[in-house]
Amino acid sequence: MTGEALPRPFRLIAYETVGSTNDELKRLARDGADEGLIIIAGEQTGGRGRRGRAWVSPPGNLYSSILIRPDCRAAEAAQLGFIAALGVAGAIGELAPHIDLRCKWPNDVLANGKKVSGILLETEMVSGDRPDFVILGVGINLVSSPRDTPYPATSLGEEGAPGISPPMMAAAFIRHLALWLATWRQSGFAPIRDAWLARAMGLGEAIQVRLERDTLDGRFLDLDADGALLLGLPEGSRRIAAGEIFPARAA
Ligand code: BTN
Repeated sequence: MTGEALPRPFRLIAYETVGSTNDELKRLARDGADEGLIIIAGEQTGGRGRRGRAWVSPPGNLYSSILIRPDCRAAEAAQLGFIAALGVAGAIGELAPHIDLRCKWPNDVLANGKKVSGILLETEMVSGDRPDFVILGVGINLVSSPRDTPYPATSLGEEGAPGISPPMMAAAFIRHLALWLATWRQSGFAPIRDAWLARAMGLGEAIQVRLERDTLDGRFLDLDADGALLLGLPEGSRRIAAGEIFPARAA
């Protein structure tokens, strides 16, 4: 990478081209790879995003997947998405301190109001309610971003921070991720939730939530103890476990 040693237990395999770093790492995880294995790729030919979308992956941006074997219930594993988002925001904040960074529920990171990073969290269960492993798939736009996305996208280069290479960003991201993971394991979700809320886009404001089959307009009240969004509606508050949010004015 940058010559910088990774914190334990992280270790890295770099590919020039893969279909999807998440798929590659999933194969290794099923073969028994230990927690902390990271795959990065120079480009992806079949990058995947949330909600079945493609993640267009030309050279120059960071495409990474990290293997975690958490000792928790399946519902708690979703908290790892918030941990990854804090790791991304910490790394970008370190390398490009002039950029305004926000976390957008559930797992996106915004640079000056546009999406600069997306996270695809995939959990495989062993038995009952315990995850065998979680793959944290993290894309960070360093030099280019797609047009015509549901939410406007950007890259660090486009926001006035050129010259950040994928290995530089990967090293900073893993350092920040390791710190937030250690906090989670020591103190639970509460400090993660607080740090995420301090950067949250739209907290207390009117937002639109797009669900699989429905769209709701309400106020972003809070996150609950599991990371679900609490949406204020005329009839009361509603807990949203999965969806996509937009500012009310852009909706
Ligand atoms: C999103 O839709 O916002 C999530 C995008 C996640 C993209 C990353 S890039 C590295 C990893 N491999 C994939 O195929 N997807 C994730």
